[in-house]
Amino acid sequence: MGSKTPFTLKWGIMATGHIAKNFVKDLLTDPAIRDVHDVCHEVVAVASSSSVQKAVDFCAKVNASTKTKVYGSYAELVADGEIDIVYIATPHSHHFQNAMLALEAGKPILCEKAFTVTSSQARKLVETARTKQLFLMEAVWTRFFPLSIKVRELVASGVIGAVYRVIADNSLNRVLPEGDLDFQDSHRMVNLDLAGGAMLDLGIYSLTWLMQILYHLQSDEKKEPPNVVAAINKYHTGADEMTSFILQFAKHKSMGIGMTALRIGSGVDYDFTGGPPIKIQGSAGEIQVMGPAFKPSAYRVIMKDGGGHIETVHCPIPKDQNRDNWGHGMYWEADECARCLRDGKLESDTLPLEESIVVMEVMESTLRQGGVEYPQPITTDIYDRLSSLNTGRR
Ligand SMILES: NC(=O)c1ccc[n+]([C@@H]2O[C@H](COP(=O)([O-])OP(=O)(O)OC[C@H]3O[C@@H](n4cnc5c(N)ncnc54)[C@H](OP(=O)(O)O)[C@@H]3O)[C@@H](O)[C@H]2O)c1
Repeated sequence: MGSKTPFTLKWGIMATGHIAKNFVKDLLTDPAIRDVHDVCHEVVAVASSSSVQKAVDFCAKVNASTKTKVYGSYAELVADGEIDIVYIATPHSHHFQNAMLALEAGKPILCEKAFTVTSSQARKLVETARTKQLFLMEAVWTRFFPLSIKVRELVASGVIGAVYRVIADNSLNRVLPEGDLDFQDSHRMVNLDLAGGAMLDLGIYSLTWLMQILYHLQSDEKKEPPNVVAAINKYHTGADEMTSFILQFAKHKSMGIGMTALRIGSGVDYDFTGGPPIKIQGSAGEIQVMGPAFKPSAYRVIMKDGGGHIETVHCPIPKDQNRDNWGHGMYWEADECARCLRDGKLESDTLPLEESIVVMEVMESTLRQGGVEYPQPITTDIYDRLSSLNTGRR
């Protein structure tokens, strides 16, 4: 049998920061290392809103092809006719305006988490993408890990019975001995102008585990947006630094308990001695997921009647030895985009847009209950082309 030529997805990269670098490295790894043979990726262009030189330096760092185009503005990127999809890796404060810029130019999008700052911005993006018949997806990479797929299959098959509770923690210890956090006040993690705070940056992963088990796995007619009860401790900048939220799914008698914090860590111990940051508890047993909630690396199933037998299943992230052992785990979400575009789908079944909206509603409710307020320029759901270019930095 002859092998079919894989479908190639041509990417345009918007922004040149930390996560754009990891993502592009993953795009450039050989799909065969993860046993993927039907799709592959090409980085057609990289754009920086700061300067064209920053895009040049970025390409050098990731060892991009000499054919990769470089732009000194996001406007030039979205106008490039060779690009199939734009990956948005700006701070979440800017996702709404940047995504609108790309949609207005007729480009499909993969947009980093948190999708937006408010749920009305998320609704506006979805509405615009649907009107223009363009693919749109929130880049919650964890959902596309083979480990996450396996855990969802185990839950759906009823191995641990009816699931009544999911507990998920995604916390990073970033406190200095003198008590401040290890970020300048201007850093996007704690700066309100850049939609800083634990919830939108890290809590989204705790919420991902609650949602992919307690919401995503329900049939469409049984899906129930949860009731949210939350509490927040704020940092001196006004951003949330410790946030806990309970999601109540009353019809299903289930609850999700989500946590995130910047002064303590969770799941950061790869020997798992710190215990699992994620526990999925059912009537017949429990599934525990180990490793950080955003990048899980193993799971185990503990049965109520298992006689103490517990097997830990390790799920390593494949590395490309021809590229300095690159392999972060972001390539699986990129493969999902390639398959959706190849098949003419406008959204992913694994992370439907309706779910990204519910996720934003939960986070908005949590932040509102904790009294976190973001400034008007980043909460507006009115598209402003000038803001979308990010030239005047706030
Ligand atoms: N999936 C994940 O695991 C993961 C991990 C970390 C972060 N993220 C998400 O990715 C996004 C970016 O995070 P990051 O850690 O990459 O941030 P970062 O290192 O600060 O990079 C952000 C980039 O956005 C561009 N930008 C445009 N307007 C900006 C402004 N007003 N202020 C600052 N930068 C601006 C800059 O690139 P140019 O100057 O080139 O335009 C900058 O390099 C966030 O939404 C974050 O939540 C995801």
